[in-house]
Amino acid sequence: MIRAVFLTHTAAPSGAELATLRLLTELRRGGVVDPSVLLTAAGPLVDRLRARRIPVTVCGNAFDSTALTVAGSGPLRLLTGATGLIRLGARLGAIVRSDGADVVVAQSTKALLMGAVAARRAGVPLIWQVHDRVSGEYFGRILAVALRVLGWVTAHGVVANSRSTLRTLYTRGRVAVIAYPGVEPVANPSRVPQREPGAVRIAMVGRLTPWKGQEVLLRALSLLRHRPAAVHLVGGTFFGEQDYRAELDRTVAELGLPVEFVGHVDDPGCYFAQADIAVHCSVIAEPFGQVVVEAMAAGCAVVAADAGGPTEIVHHDIDGILVPPGDPVALAAALDRLIADPALRTRLSAAARERSADFGIAATAQAVTGLLEQVTGRRAVRAR
Ligand code: GLC
Repeated sequence: MIRAVFLTHTAAPSGAELATLRLLTELRRGGVVDPSVLLTAAGPLVDRLRARRIPVTVCGNAFDSTALTVAGSGPLRLLTGATGLIRLGARLGAIVRSDGADVVVAQSTKALLMGAVAARRAGVPLIWQVHDRVSGEYFGRILAVALRVLGWVTAHGVVANSRSTLRTLYTRGRVAVIAYPGVEPVANPSRVPQREPGAVRIAMVGRLTPWKGQEVLLRALSLLRHRPAAVHLVGGTFFGEQDYRAELDRTVAELGLPVEFVGHVDDPGCYFAQADIAVHCSVIAEPFGQVVVEAMAAGCAVVAADAGGPTEIVHHDIDGILVPPGDPVALAAALDRLIADPALRTRLSAAARERSADFGIAATAQAVTGLLEQVTGRRAVRAR
């Protein structure tokens, strides 16, 4: 068995952490990798991991996890944040060593910095599992280059959540795989047939944060010729994004839109199951976009932004519709076309369900296991 410690700095149930939760559950089931989690903050993820019988250690809850935040961080703030992470890394190294781990897998950029120190202390290789595109548009040009270099220097291997993410990294001389964050089989795949135009329900699932583009959807809704019966915005604010939520509230009131804010839910599946159309409209390239696959698996007709991960998932006009990111007019045109045409929605939804089967969690676990075997030089003997 390969003992792998997955290191992450946040226990908020946001996309990357939920992807990790599913991956570790599947790794544990597979029996080749023995996964555990080392967290530097307490939060809802801890109980969810434990419920799936994955060992969790929380270390350093005094640590300010907002240090090194991307938005509006000045050089001094970054430096203090980085120093804190390095110090914490040294403490984590002791835990990794006493755990007898074979490898550390860093789940975020902050975890990469801590993990680099921790893995070195423990004398084990480091893997960087990358959930974000390490690009200028997300991190700013200078930080993006610094992170790429840090990753290249410190990590023996890289797991990227899409081709698009992998392209933003330096991987020369390193082992690299793409492991699409897979979904778990839908528990109850039954759903109501696509509704008539006047009764259409739309769902958008995602953290309420400017780059996920909820504002673009609201603008698009105000331009529609065919008004939907209901629009559900599912998602919480985790990382100091309350101002954005207030802004969205104002837009909804100003434009008189039929929008309901659902907040964070652990399982957004039932919102997809009840929606005819699911919208994804991130304004910068989405690294992967698990919600796109989840919506497809639930049989929604999906509209997604044509950049990053969704372009690797959706075949335009076959199993979904791709629209230019950050363009409310184009999104409105796509929505009007879909709302008006239940037959089109039915065709897309059937194809979407089929396509979603290409993104199972077993394949993700297999790709990650292969990389861990390669990097640790251990190949487990599998039962035949
Ligand atoms: C991050 C990315 C998202 C991806 C998820 C899982 O949340 O923003 O695109 O689906 O990680 O890798």
